Amino acid sequence: MRNKLVAGNWKMHGNLKENAALLEALISNMPKPGNNADYAVCAPFPYLASVQVALQGTCINWGAQNISQYEKGAYTGEVSADMLNDFGCRYVIVGHSERRMLFGETSQIVAEKYAAAQRAGLIPILCVGETLEQRDSDITEQVIDEQLKAVIALTGIESLAKAVIAYEPVWAIGTGKTATPQQAQDIHQFIRKGIASQDKGIAERISILYGGSVKANNAMELFVMPDIDGGLIGGASLVAEDFVAICSAIKS
Ligand code: 13P
Repeated sequence: MRNKLVAGNWKMHGNLKENAALLEALISNMPKPGNNADYAVCAPFPYLASVQVALQGTCINWGAQNISQYEKGAYTGEVSADMLNDFGCRYVIVGHSERRMLFGETSQIVAEKYAAAQRAGLIPILCVGETLEQRDSDITEQVIDEQLKAVIALTGIESLAKAVIAYEPVWAIGTGKTATPQQAQDIHQFIRKGIASQDKGIAERISILYGGSVKANNAMELFVMPDIDGGLIGGASLVAEDFVAICSAIKS
């Protein structure tokens, strides 16, 4: 049975007080994992220390939203994999479309960040996905193929044994527009088949999450699809009740 994961991406939201309240509510109400399910929150860098203190020993893991591709050195403003390890991170999101589009991260840079995360024993959550324009031009598969190939070219297909992929159609992020379960399933299956053409075992085991306006009321219909192994949740991960409901949907 494949591992399932629901990860919250807090993006640039929250503050010490709000985070403490959110985490307290999550800790009290989160369903016990099991059933190969894992839950995590990916917090902004400055809050990782307090998130670690709050979540240590609970059933919720945590991670970061970005990482430097460099190990250490004169890289002002960057945060290394070892630093994330110091704060107990298990996961790190790499290649989120907001990083690709707003901060100029190319697929090559994303691949280097993915490699840096794995070198330090962190699990990268590698985001891929197409814009609306690309979908309308019928090049969704090509776009995703290019994003995945950059990573595989740098780190080898076997690196996917220690990674999670998140399919996040850009047009569904923060827009309230969700891919239909079938649209999402089609792309997840495409991703899994592409990996299977190089390594069947890894393709069968890798968790592929869906992200893009996953809410409490649509999580279940997405999570029942055969190739959807969980979600990467933006807005709804900031509301304890909603995030708990989404995590419960993966369990059942
Ligand atoms: P929303 O759930 O707010 O659409 O964000 C999705 C996302 O970008 C998660 O990484």
